[in-house]
Amino acid sequence: MTLTPLTQPTSTFSLPTPLGGELISRVRRPGEDFELGEFARLPRLELSERGLADVEMIATGAYSPLTGFLGERDYRSVIEYMRLADGTPWSVPITLPVDKAAAAHYRGKVLLTYGGEAIGTLDVSDQYEAQKSLEAREVYRTEDPAHPGVAALLSAGEVYLAGEVTLFDVPRGAFAVHHRTPAEVREVIEARGWRSTVAFQTRNPIHRAHEYLQKVALELVDGLLLHPLVGKTKGDDVPAETRMHAYEVLLDKYYPRERTLLSVYPAAMRYAGPREAILHALSRRNYGASHFIVGRDHAGVGNYYGTYDAQEIFGAFTPQELGIQILKFEHTFYCQTCGQLVSPRTCPHDAGHHLILSGTKVREKLRAGEKLPPEFTRPEVAEVLREAYQLQG
Ligand code: ADX
Repeated sequence: MTLTPLTQPTSTFSLPTPLGGELISRVRRPGEDFELGEFARLPRLELSERGLADVEMIATGAYSPLTGFLGERDYRSVIEYMRLADGTPWSVPITLPVDKAAAAHYRGKVLLTYGGEAIGTLDVSDQYEAQKSLEAREVYRTEDPAHPGVAALLSAGEVYLAGEVTLFDVPRGAFAVHHRTPAEVREVIEARGWRSTVAFQTRNPIHRAHEYLQKVALELVDGLLLHPLVGKTKGDDVPAETRMHAYEVLLDKYYPRERTLLSVYPAAMRYAGPREAILHALSRRNYGASHFIVGRDHAGVGNYYGTYDAQEIFGAFTPQELGIQILKFEHTFYCQTCGQLVSPRTCPHDAGHHLILSGTKVREKLRAGEKLPPEFTRPEVAEVLREAYQLQG
C-alpha cells in the first residue's frame, strides 16, 4: 500500500517530544547485545499478563520517561501528587508485585519470564511494601473489591520490586500487522506528513458515537491514530480479536485511508477512570500524538466516577506539562429528530428523542441475537459482533 503525504513536512515541523524529552528504548536482543546463556542461573520471575504488558510499555518508550518499575519515592509521589518524585506528571503507579514470601529471592538481576519463556530482565534496585488501601483510595477513588482495578490490586503480591527492565523482543502477538512501537508510530506519522495527530483510546467496538468524536476531531487535525487497548480487560468487555475485526471492516468502508492509522495499544486496562485518562494521554504523546480525545466517563467502570471527572482532572496540570492537547467531548448520541449524532451542546430535544444504549443493553441484545440499530452501530460492525456472540452461544 502506498500512501501519499497530505502535506509536505517542512523543516520547522516536528512531532511532540516524548515525556521527559527522550523516547526510552530498552529492547536488547539476545545474540546481538548479549547471550541468553549468561542468564541461566538468575532467579526467574513469571510475569502476569499485565506485568508483561507493563514491561513492553516501559521498554518501547510508551511509558517514557519510565525506564523500569517505580521505586518507593516515585510510588508514593505518584499516589499523593500525580507526579514522579522529580515533578513530572504521572498518574498511575506502574509496579511489579510479588508475594512477600518470594520477595527475598529477588535481588540483583532477575530473569523475567512469561509462559515459562525468558522475555527480559529486571535489575532490582529496591523492594517495598505496597500501600494497598492508600493506593486504592487515591488511584481508583474506591476501596470496593468489586471494582476490577481494585480487585487486581488486592489479589496481587504485597511487595513491589523496583528497577530497570530490559525486553528481549517486542511481543507482537495476534495483531502483528497492527502492532507498532511508539518509534514506529512516529515514523508513520512523519511519513504521512501529519502535522497534527489525534489519538483515540478505546476498549470497545466503535459505535456511531465514537466515530462521530473521531470525525469531528479529524475536521481539525491531519491524522487519526485509532489506538485500541488490546491488553488484559475485564471478562465481559468485548474480546480484542472481535474488536480488531470490527475496526478493520469499519475503517475499510467509512474512514479516509490516508488520514487514519489503526495500531494496537498493548497496555492492560486498569479502569482507574480519571487517573487512567491522564496515563492514556501522556502515553499517546509518547506515540507522537498532538491531540487526545476524552469523552464521557473515560476508562470508567460501573458508577465509580462522575461522567466528566476524567476531563476535569486534567486541570491539575499546565498544558505545557501535558504536552498533548485534550479534546473534551460531552456525551454523544443519536437524535431521531435531528437525524444525526448530537450532544447536549448541539441538540435542543429532550431524552424522548434520543437513542441511548448502555454497554449492558448492547451485550444483552447481542446475546439474544438481536440486531443493533444502525443509528447506534454501523451494520458491518453489528454483523461482526453478532457473529462473535452467536459463536460464543
Ligand atoms: S474507554 O475505557 O476506553 O474509555 P470506550 O472505548 O467506551 O472506553 O471509550 C473510548 C473513548 O470514547 C473515551 O474517551 C470515552 O470517554 C469516549 N466515549 C465513549 N462513548 C461516548 C459517548 N457516547 N459520548 C462521548 N464520549 C464517549
